[in-house]
Amino acid sequence: MAHRVGIVGGDGIGPEVIAEGLKVIAAAGVELDTVDYDLGGDRYLRDGVVLTDEIIDEWRGLDAIYLGAVGTPDVPPGVIERGMLLRMRFELDLYINQRPFSLPSTAGSDPAQAGDTQGHEFIVIRENTEGTYAGEGGFLRKDTPEEIATQGSVNTRHGVERCIRYAFELAMTRRKHLTMVHKTNVLTFSGDLWDRTFNEVAADYPEVETAYNHVDAACIYFVDDPQRYDVIVTDNLFGDILTDLGGAVSGGIGFASSANLHPGQVSMFEPVHGSAPDIVGTGKANPTAAVLSAVLMLEHLGENDAADRIRAACSDTDSLVGSTTEIGDLIVSRLSA
Ligand code: NAI
Ligand code: MG
Repeated sequence: MAHRVGIVGGDGIGPEVIAEGLKVIAAAGVELDTVDYDLGGDRYLRDGVVLTDEIIDEWRGLDAIYLGAVGTPDVPPGVIERGMLLRMRFELDLYINQRPFSLPSTAGSDPAQAGDTQGHEFIVIRENTEGTYAGEGGFLRKDTPEEIATQGSVNTRHGVERCIRYAFELAMTRRKHLTMVHKTNVLTFSGDLWDRTFNEVAADYPEVETAYNHVDAACIYFVDDPQRYDVIVTDNLFGDILTDLGGAVSGGIGFASSANLHPGQVSMFEPVHGSAPDIVGTGKANPTAAVLSAVLMLEHLGENDAADRIRAACSDTDSLVGSTTEIGDLIVSRLSA
């Protein structure tokens, strides 16, 4: 039976890279029953719609959502991000943000290891529904010299535990190594909850070797010694920042993929990059990030064989050059080779 997948091409280069992703999925022999959704900045400018309750209800009945990018320069910041992307995460309870990174041969600053990093993959699991992004806070005396703004960090035992448990389960399928990243020495309330939960869940996974890094130190290791990582688990804000750094040390924005997951339910898959209005229509958009996001989607759909084949076709990142459609065609040609 074909998988039912909602397609949100979105704005800018979004539709360009999603078209290549769909081409590659079809070439890998996976049949999708797709439903198109015209959403994003252009739609908002046309009729004011960002996202409706009806669309969210329809999405609950799908197997997955494949999204290009949303956002146009003319829409004020926050309208689409909060109104669509964050609303999707909250209402569909997509509590895991999973971002894999594959290192090029030049990663790390240790000359003795140069060349050894090619293909080393690590995965960041970012909590996706809580923390400072939950929207807790407010203003007092706004627009006066005495103005106060607070932005709280929401950390529930339920939310932290299910995220950490997911990361341990993932670590069990890989090298059995999991690092928690936080700032427990300063954030002594939320950090304490994360730390206690991590140690309690670890007791259920005695085979997994665990490590802990403060987030500032993790930034150094991402640049100097990323091979130390296999799976990382962290909160929403730290994960947002660390994964941009992860993209920068692993070949750039054209290769960074992501999954917004609720295991067992409809989940959303998108490249990390935005709508890149500066290169729309030029053929310069690299579709690899969208194709690798499709790989994560196929794994969610249980199409592991097709996922493995597409990932292998994308593994030699240095050779994936050309226009948007040429790179898509190259990946397709490697599938049938
Ligand atoms: P961006 O990721 O769109 O672009 C940043 C830079 O990277 C640009 O120079 C762009 O040309 C380049 N770039 C991005 N993707 C590329 C690709 N696949 N191949 C080659 N080069 C690529 O980020 P920016 O400029 O901050 O945001 C543009 C718009 O996208 C804004 O409206 C923003 O809100 C939105 N956005 C949407 C996201 C989403 O849908 N999840 C994520 C990030 C930004
Ligand atoms: Mg970000």
